[in-house]
Amino acid sequence: MDAMRPRGPRLLIRKSIEQVQFECGNQHLKRTLGPVNLVFFGIGCIIGAGIYVMTGNAAADYAGPAVMLSFVIAGLACAFAGFCYAELASCMPVAGSAYTYSYTTLGEVFAWIMGWLLVLEYGVAAATVAAGWSGNVTSLLGNFGVHLPAFTTTAFLQASSVHGITEFTGGHGLNLLGAAGIMAITLLLVLGVSESAKVNNVIVVVKVGVLLAFIAVGIFFIHPANWHPFIPKSEGGLKYGTAGIFRAASTIFFAYVGFEAVSTAAAEAKNPARDMPIGILGSLFVCTLLYIVVAAVLTGMVPFRKLGGPAPIALAVNYMGPAYDWFAVCIKIGAVAGLTSVMLILTYGQTRIFFSMARDGLLPKMFSTLHPRFRTPWIGTLLLGSAIAVATALLPIDILGNLVSLGTAVAFAIVCISVLWLRAKAPDMHRPYTAPGGIWTPILGIIGSLVMAAPLLADIILSAVHGDVIPASILGSYIAIGAVIYIGYGLRHSRLAQGLGQRDVDGIPGPGALQAELHGIGKDHA
Ligand code: ALA
Repeated sequence: MDAMRPRGPRLLIRKSIEQVQFECGNQHLKRTLGPVNLVFFGIGCIIGAGIYVMTGNAAADYAGPAVMLSFVIAGLACAFAGFCYAELASCMPVAGSAYTYSYTTLGEVFAWIMGWLLVLEYGVAAATVAAGWSGNVTSLLGNFGVHLPAFTTTAFLQASSVHGITEFTGGHGLNLLGAAGIMAITLLLVLGVSESAKVNNVIVVVKVGVLLAFIAVGIFFIHPANWHPFIPKSEGGLKYGTAGIFRAASTIFFAYVGFEAVSTAAAEAKNPARDMPIGILGSLFVCTLLYIVVAAVLTGMVPFRKLGGPAPIALAVNYMGPAYDWFAVCIKIGAVAGLTSVMLILTYGQTRIFFSMARDGLLPKMFSTLHPRFRTPWIGTLLLGSAIAVATALLPIDILGNLVSLGTAVAFAIVCISVLWLRAKAPDMHRPYTAPGGIWTPILGIIGSLVMAAPLLADIILSAVHGDVIPASILGSYIAIGAVIYIGYGLRHSRLAQGLGQRDVDGIPGPGALQAELHGIGKDHA
């Protein structure tokens, strides 16, 4: 059992690979997932507010029709990171995913940083999708003559892009509709969601079907003149031109968030060495194609400057004329259903990441306390759901989405660094799957992540230079809160540092396995 003892100096103390493999050996999960299941699982986690909402702003504010190129750039950055996820998932097929990878490679402080980044990737992403959901619900209700007061559907802060730099104004309303949506999801999660697995599978088909229907009908309403100029002339800052394409790529990077969830199902893959890369890269490839074609149809139908708004696809359908009002309603219903499922998956994932961290002693026990009847981490779920609801009420989709993209890009870079670390420290370790391209794939993954993060950081810095310190303050506070919690709690209560192993947790699986449960995979798919 010596191999299972933790290693390293205090801040960099690591779980041993053997310990993690021992823990996953205890998961008793059935290996039932083939490549097709995994590709569907990935697509289910990926498609959401990114394509339904943020593509419009990315085209209107930054890239114009060249947002198609932005999708290619963001997709490529994800692909390199995706190979790295596949390699680590095949070595450590555990539900904790990136958090566990960091705990075994770079050490505890990096695991904490990763866990805190995953809050952006899941919790803040749930708030982002809720903001998009609220926009689509408002638009759908409008079709039925129900007009909610604007101050109940718009966030307290409002963002606008001035010369490619985001500016904020405040004090107009509270997105109570989005917050209510999140609280409804939270209650569902407290009660337990296993019954909804089949419903979620149907929703996945619906949300892909909506995009395909939009392409099939929209293609007949394209005016090629709308594609000229393909790359609009730069208007300064990050607005249009080449810089705008990269700025848009970092915004719509959000649209790809979720593919890495496939890695969390590694313990249930029939053949992880083959199925992980196919599941991760396959779902990325399908979504990239779908996104590029949707972006082409969208910018071909509507002059790109008009695409900013909460429901750009529905807006494009309005351009088809009154005879297609029914189609607009179908599109909005599909979008609302799709966004609901993503909100559910992301909020669910967030509660389980905190569950894993609490189980390791890095967060207070209340995040892993189970409800005696529902067997769900109910206190943590209610606390998190409320925090996500507050974020939805206060912050606009732009700032939420940018925080998610920034956090996810850094998380991807850490995963790529973990691959390099493991290749150097344990070159002979058995790897069921090794990413192709030697060290170049993780290096390109790191570069891709930096390319995604750089324009977001530039935007935050430029905003601060122009006197708008709101984004910088939010980011700074977020980092400071994380540091305080780790220093004040995690550092002292870490079970690993105390020489305690991971407790048996009543068979409660981690985030990925629970996402899999939501999608019904690993249960009734053979
Ligand atoms: N990729 C997911 C979305 O676009 C998070 O909503």
